[in-house]
Amino acid sequence: MRVAIIGTGYVGLTTGVCLAFIGHDVYCLDSDKSKIEALRNGRVPIFEPFLAELLEEARSNLTFTTCYEEAIPGAEVVFIAVGTPPTPSGAPNLEFLSQAARSIGQHMNSHLTVVVNKSTVPIGSGNWVDSLLRDAIDSRQNGGEHTGFAVASNPEFLREGSALHDSLYPDRIVIGADEPRALEVLYTLYRPILDQTFSAPTYLPRPETVGAVPLLSTDLASAELIKYAANAFLALKISFINEIGLVAERVGADISEVGRGIGLDSRIGPRFLSAGIGWGGSCFGKDTAALIATAGEYGLHLPIVEAARKINSRQRDRVVEKLLHELKILKGRTIGLLGLAFKPNTDDLREAPAIEIAQKLIDRGVRVKAHDPVAIDRFEREHKGMGVLLCGSACEVAEGCDALVLITEWSEYRDLEWEEIAKKMRCPIILDGRHALDAEKLSRAGLRMLSIS
Ligand code: UDX
Repeated sequence: MRVAIIGTGYVGLTTGVCLAFIGHDVYCLDSDKSKIEALRNGRVPIFEPFLAELLEEARSNLTFTTCYEEAIPGAEVVFIAVGTPPTPSGAPNLEFLSQAARSIGQHMNSHLTVVVNKSTVPIGSGNWVDSLLRDAIDSRQNGGEHTGFAVASNPEFLREGSALHDSLYPDRIVIGADEPRALEVLYTLYRPILDQTFSAPTYLPRPETVGAVPLLSTDLASAELIKYAANAFLALKISFINEIGLVAERVGADISEVGRGIGLDSRIGPRFLSAGIGWGGSCFGKDTAALIATAGEYGLHLPIVEAARKINSRQRDRVVEKLLHELKILKGRTIGLLGLAFKPNTDDLREAPAIEIAQKLIDRGVRVKAHDPVAIDRFEREHKGMGVLLCGSACEVAEGCDALVLITEWSEYRDLEWEEIAKKMRCPIILDGRHALDAEKLSRAGLRMLSIS
């Protein structure tokens, strides 16, 4: 099928490359010329494992362009995957979405183009995009009289760092549309993934447990709400374990064991129960704020979601409190952060706990040093003015530090030369913000380990 994707961020690019890989003819459009130029040359502008490899394999089915005139005419499906960054009120900024909808409306020419919201958009955006498309068609010189379209919502559940795995082997695909024709088109588009009939890339083998992928087709509003509810639920699962962590700390329980113990109950499930400094990233913060804002428009309060946000923010304060308790005076101290990215296997720094924690420490007169295996360059570009001293290795960070804090559980941090690190530090203290380190190993190396539980 002929497909156009508007926006080449994490979601747009991953979706485009995966659809091209399973055999569709995909046009990826972005207004950023340098990004499109890089993609044409096979360079992927984000850090995402195997994305460059899959792009190379799917190259013959991919066109990268900045022109709506090139991407839209003839497309059977158009995905809108543009950014919807948060505004101060918590409601997302829909400027890019409305620009994209208008431009699509100006150029689509098929009898039926299915326009799909893939960006996380407020409930009701499907109807709004529908009206923008209709206005754009009506304003065309030729009147667009043979042009037909249907709007659908197809929320994305991919996680950064495992975006391709999540797209090729999803737990489910959700499609919302009020018109059955749109559902049929999207069913055909996703069929190779639903039936798992494509040959898996060697570097992303199909997990043995993956069979046919469930397809849930709903009305527009339900699909839109599913996305927000899923992210809010995952966020509150993390905040729940962090709240229990507070009790665990007081009563002397091990929160990792408590998480394992409750997660083995199949009604609860083991994932998203890792306690620590809490969630970051572009979705949980933004989507919980947007859900609260939407509910507010209907005069509703969402105390559970609000509490999840408060608990998450408190976890960052607890890092500072723990260090203060341990070191007594923070002013003039040097503290090293291991990890800057909001989670391993990405260089994304949006709402990264490292940034918030570094700022809180700097505000208290601390000299902050940091290392990250992949996010250093991005940090330098995006947060240059913060005054964090960036280092080329974890050992370099440790030099002269009064404490280290593990912020991102990159696998390489689990097996560092801890003896060497301990020797380089002024006080051999490490705060494990992710319950990722081996306490015995650290203790043998002469480090005193603290944790956020
Ligand atoms: C999330 C959703 O998982 C995905 O479905 C949605 O489409 C986008 O938002 P992502 O933000 O990429 O994906 O990462 P995710 O793996 O969900 O982690 C989010 C944050 O929660 C990270 O900062 C991670 O460190 C933290 N986290 C995750 C925990 O603190 N504890 C956990 O148990 C799991």
